[in-house]
Amino acid sequence: MPHVVPATSAAIQQAATILRASGVVAFPTETVYGLGACTFNERAIDLVYTIKGRPADNPLIAHVIDSNQAREIVAAGAWDDRCELLASRFWPGPLTLVLPKSSRVPHQATAGRSTVAVRSPRHPVARSLLGSLGEPVSAPSANRSGRVSPTSAQHVLDEFENVAEARDLIILDGGACEVGIESTVLDVSTAKPRILRHGSVTLEQLRSTIGAVESPDIRTQHASPGTAQSHYAPATRAELIASADLPEILRRYAGNGVQCVALVQQSPQVVAPHAWIAMPRDAATYAHDLYQCLREADAIGADRIIIECPQGEDDLWRAIRDRLRRAAAGG
Ligand code: TXA
Ligand code: MG
Repeated sequence: MPHVVPATSAAIQQAATILRASGVVAFPTETVYGLGACTFNERAIDLVYTIKGRPADNPLIAHVIDSNQAREIVAAGAWDDRCELLASRFWPGPLTLVLPKSSRVPHQATAGRSTVAVRSPRHPVARSLLGSLGEPVSAPSANRSGRVSPTSAQHVLDEFENVAEARDLIILDGGACEVGIESTVLDVSTAKPRILRHGSVTLEQLRSTIGAVESPDIRTQHASPGTAQSHYAPATRAELIASADLPEILRRYAGNGVQCVALVQQSPQVVAPHAWIAMPRDAATYAHDLYQCLREADAIGADRIIIECPQGEDDLWRAIRDRLRRAAAGG
């Protein structure tokens, strides 16, 4: 069975040794936990795909210690002034840049694409692991494909405890993730930078750093395979519902003998047979708690998860609603 170990410096050294020996390890980042392999090791990258059950066409993010290491895995000349500005403002942190890749990066790590996604995490455990290894680490979120991303070591254990290929997996425990949702993904492989996934680094922040940035409706674009309609899905069927419709919907379900767990921000009019979980009112705390709450909702074992759609105009709310829509597309 996979095992959780406190992220002491000895454990981090051991994790680096495992990566060097073509193994995989799970480790915390400030966004979510990752399942990492050495970027240049094709066999280890294959193992990441196997453990996750990830489709072979969905590329991975390479985690680097800094922009110098990023330059080593992107094509010559690809790291331009825009990248320099973005990295100096947002790295280390939750911003991923998509750039033409260097031939050093095996096609396994980019699912055959000519681009590579790269980010420098700020979590001290991730940084210490990258520092010990001295090489980039390709890591998707440490969940089974399509499921809710893990924001604690226990979540990673819950995901993989029954996966045969993960029986020796070490999970470095660095506590609960600070941000709670995945990094913003920005495609800078073309003249017009474009957001492929919303996150806590906002469109406004990106625009104020490099000027024009496109933000297409992520629901209708297919530039990033990982932005499939259904993603981040709990096992229980989930629905995203406007606040005003909540009482009526819950009444109707109760009448039909359907038990719900409602994730609500407003003081709840939720009564038996339904259960409820109180969601935070500010965006940063909502993002931080979201995946934990979806997992708790799953554990209640109700027939349906009903999520009150949070209002709020700023970009972090937008990123949160994006995750909620995908969670609700899973049923
Ligand atoms: O916060 C995060 O980004 C976390 C932590 C562990 O760093 N990682 C993460 O990885 O969320 P993953 O694999 O779950 O999501 C990576 C996203 C996917 O939507 C994938 O399709 C996209 O990045 N992506 C990766 N490489 C790409 C590329 N070359 N072109 C376009 N999209 C890419
Ligand atoms: Mg993921």
